Amino acid sequence: MSGDDRTLEDWLALTERRLRKAGLFFGHGTQNARDEAAWLVAAAAKIAPGDLNRSMGRVATARESRRILALTDKRIATRMPLAYLLGEAWLTGHRFIVDRRVIIPRSFIAELLDDGLRPWCANPRSVKRVLDLCTGSGCLAILAALAFPRARIDAVDISRRALTVAQKNVRAYGLEDRISLIDSDLFQAVPVQEYDLIISNPPYVKAQSMRKLPPEYRSEPAIALAGGSDGLDTVARIIREADRYLKPNAHLLLEIGHNRTAFERRYPRLPVTWPSTSSESDAVLWVAVEDLRAMGMRVGRH
Ligand SMILES: C[S@@+](CC[C@H](N)C(=O)[O-])C[C@H]1O[C@@H](n2cnc3c(N)ncnc32)[C@H](O)[C@@H]1O
Repeated sequence: MSGDDRTLEDWLALTERRLRKAGLFFGHGTQNARDEAAWLVAAAAKIAPGDLNRSMGRVATARESRRILALTDKRIATRMPLAYLLGEAWLTGHRFIVDRRVIIPRSFIAELLDDGLRPWCANPRSVKRVLDLCTGSGCLAILAALAFPRARIDAVDISRRALTVAQKNVRAYGLEDRISLIDSDLFQAVPVQEYDLIISNPPYVKAQSMRKLPPEYRSEPAIALAGGSDGLDTVARIIREADRYLKPNAHLLLEIGHNRTAFERRYPRLPVTWPSTSSESDAVLWVAVEDLRAMGMRVGRH
C-alpha cells in the first residue's frame, strides 16, 4: 500500500504502532497508545474524537497524511503531550483550549460534576455559589457552571498566565456572566462569603515523585504539580481555611491524587467520604463544613 491510499483506519493502526514503539508516557488526556493515536488522527483530519469511527474507511487526503506524520514525529521527538501540540484537551466530552501555561485537564472531579455531583448533591439547581480553587485552564469552573445551571462560580489561580488561558475558555463557553476569575494565592484575595460548594484540584505531587516524573510532565507548569514533601502542602492550607468560606451544610470536594494514606496520617479524626471515580486510588474526598469546623476547634483555631 502506498502512502497515498491509506484510509484513516490505516493511519490509526500505523500511528498506534509508532507511538507504542517509542515508549511514550500516556496520561495527559489518554491512557494508552491506541486512544492517543485516535485523538491524533481525528485532530489531523479535523474530526471530533468521538466521530472518528464513522470516517475510518475514508482515504486520508495528502494534507491529512502530512499532518498525521508531522504530529507523530513531533510527539515522539519532543515527548511533549499531544494536548499541547494540538492546543486542545478533552474532558468528559468537553473541549478546552490549552497551552503550556496550564496543566492538561484530567481531574477526576470532572467525572463527578458530569453527573451533577449526585448523590452527594441532592439538587444541582439549589447550588448558587461555587468556588473553584486552583482553576488552571478553568475546566472545572466551566464544568461546574454546566452542572449547576443557577450557580455563579469564582475561579481562583495564583498564576496570571493560567488565568489568561482560563479566560479564553470561559469566553469559548459564553460563561463570562457566571464565572469570575480571581488572581489569588488560594483564599487570600477572595472576600469571605458563603459558598455552597468549594471544588479544588490543587498541586499534590510529592517532592520525591516530582523528581521521577516521565518527560511529558516537564512541559507542564511545575507550580501546577508540586505539592511539597508529602504532596499535601496546598491541600493542608485549603483544609485549614475552607470552613470560613462555606455556608452551613456546605461541602468541600478536593482532589488529592494517591495521597490518601498521608492525608489520613495528617487528619486521623476528620470524617471524609471518598466518592468513587475511575482513578485506581481514592483520589477525591468530600467533607462537610461542620466537620472541618469541628476539627479546627479541636486544634484551637476557632
Ligand atoms: C493541578 S492544577 C489544576 C488545574 C485545573 N483545576 C485542572 O483540574 O486541570 C493546579 C493549579 O493550581 C494553581 N496553584 C498552585 N498554587 C496555588 C495557590 N497557592 N493559589 C492558587 N492557585 C494555585 C496552579 O497555577 C495550577 O493552575
